[in-house]
Amino acid sequence: MDFETFDARGYRTVDVRTGYGEWVAHYESTVEDVMDLALLERLAEPSWSQVRRAADLGCGTGRTGQWLRDRGVQHVDGVDVTPEMLDLARRRGAHERLVEADASATGLPGESYDLVICSLIDEHLPDLRPLYAEAHRLATPGAAFVLVTYHPHFIMTSGMPTHYTNAEGEPVAIATHVHLISDHVAAGVGAGWRLAELHENVIDDDWLRIKPKWERFRNHPFSAAYTWRKN
Ligand SMILES: C[S@@+](CC[C@H](N)C(=O)[O-])C[C@H]1O[C@@H](n2cnc3c(N)ncnc32)[C@H](O)[C@@H]1O
Repeated sequence: MDFETFDARGYRTVDVRTGYGEWVAHYESTVEDVMDLALLERLAEPSWSQVRRAADLGCGTGRTGQWLRDRGVQHVDGVDVTPEMLDLARRRGAHERLVEADASATGLPGESYDLVICSLIDEHLPDLRPLYAEAHRLATPGAAFVLVTYHPHFIMTSGMPTHYTNAEGEPVAIATHVHLISDHVAAGVGAGWRLAELHENVIDDDWLRIKPKWERFRNHPFSAAYTWRKN
């Protein structure tokens, strides 16, 4: 679904590579763990320490990969389209292999990962189906696919795209798309995944301590985490 219908900010919009290539300078200090890592903590599946090899799609600076390593995942390969984000991931050292590629066509070997994970990238994809299909191709039988996403309700109700402030102080949007929960279910089931778990987080006291200006969004869902299983 087009984001323009919901846009309440009217920021100039750039493509993913341009946007993250600039945002990289202060990305880590602006992304909040409560958006994604707190949701990962709530998942009952997979058992992180049992994961042998993970593919981290849209790995960015390596936050997700580091979180996995801290939970005992031994091997994590990362894929991202933005070279500057990959440079930071390389310096962080959480990943074994880092590849500059699209998350929907990674070039990584098929049936090789017992975990595929993708955190906070799908709002940049016009179509979810190639992502779910690529994750399924990479996964071994029985593997999990964990996807963390902005909640469509939040994007719609706030009218905020993914955005950052550039070196000139201008707020800039990165091309954003809205995917309904039913879009995820259709793409996941269509690719052969079975949904094992779905969690939604809401703007609560923890959130409001970080962003007091968001009081008007109290109790609105902000992000969601899915665990899919390959049969
Ligand atoms: C919000 S960051 C998330 C990074 C990391 N997963 C995290 O949680 O911090 C989004 C990342 O997705 C990457 N990205 C966006 N679209 C992509 C695509 N089609 N293929 C690969 N990477 C993509 C961007 O370059 C950026 O590094």
